[in-house]
Amino acid sequence: MIQGQAYGWFVISISVLMFLLGCSPRAIDYDQVGPNDKLIIRFSHVTGEETPKGLAAKRFKELVEAKSGGKIEVQVFPNSTLYSDKEELSALKRGDIQIIAPAISKVSSVVPEALLFDLPYLFHDQDDVWKLADGPVGDEINILLEKQGYKMLAVWDNGFKQITNNKHPIHHPDDFKDLSFRIMPSRVLARQFDSVGATSLVLPFNELYQALERGQVDGEENTVSNIYSKKLYVTQKYMTKSDHGYLGYFVLTQKEFWESIPQESRVILEEVLADVTEWERNLALEIDKTEYAYLKERKNLELYELTEEEKKQWRSAFYPTYEWFVSQIHDDLIKVYIKEIFEEDFASKDK
Ligand code: LMR
Repeated sequence: MIQGQAYGWFVISISVLMFLLGCSPRAIDYDQVGPNDKLIIRFSHVTGEETPKGLAAKRFKELVEAKSGGKIEVQVFPNSTLYSDKEELSALKRGDIQIIAPAISKVSSVVPEALLFDLPYLFHDQDDVWKLADGPVGDEINILLEKQGYKMLAVWDNGFKQITNNKHPIHHPDDFKDLSFRIMPSRVLARQFDSVGATSLVLPFNELYQALERGQVDGEENTVSNIYSKKLYVTQKYMTKSDHGYLGYFVLTQKEFWESIPQESRVILEEVLADVTEWERNLALEIDKTEYAYLKERKNLELYELTEEEKKQWRSAFYPTYEWFVSQIHDDLIKVYIKEIFEEDFASKDK
């Protein structure tokens, strides 16, 4: 009898423990996902819900759940509520979450070739980005990602980065001297600031606002949508519309997980992703315009738009970043791509 009671308490304690554990993310045993089971996909990201990435994640959830008749459930965790950008790649690899959409710069920690996308003034506009991302270079990066256990499902957009800071207006490359900037973890971004005499500090996105507010760094570079949605403009006196660098996202999953999904469900996910990707790219362009108009109206933010001539000066000043990148990258396809840029564009016009 006593033994029976003890066993009863044991079962209750275990159930309570399991209930509590159920509130936190657990790894999924993919071998156990059968064709009739409900598939749960946890999608973790770091931006606000009203950003291009946040809205696309929500739309992905809605469309997948509708199209699968509820057989697939997508749980979206925005604003670094589950994992910060420092943690999300390893959480995905462990299988604690199933989709993330980190800025491409952050993916460079697992596939350095992704640094290509960080090169300042590499792209004139989004069409240039899509030519690269949706073409052979994107495929090549996906192969490299797969070797690391990831799989790239799509490339989403957040537009071009601008510079904000708290010390003085930045018009010319010399104005960067001795200022400090928060960057995403990317060796190209570190070189970019280095080449104009500034220092840089890697900080996760969810620590950025406070770092600016406390003056841990003088400034940062980000897209209009991120400056707007995280209210970074409140902490900054100056903004330069430079469009100097690109910020897009690799929508990533874990390769093993993806391959374990029953064919029928995988097709649904792929079809919805294709639709959402097209929608997200258009939305990002729109949001960039609307929120830029809002920032222009802010009285406490002094905004300056670089002229085409000034952009050329910046591009030349950033030139050492390209040289460094070429010296580091050994992938043949990317080397050929960057060599063409050197020959056709950089070397002839700007150097
Ligand atoms: C940043 O860290 O500044 C951005 O990558 C955040 C994001 O995901 O857009």
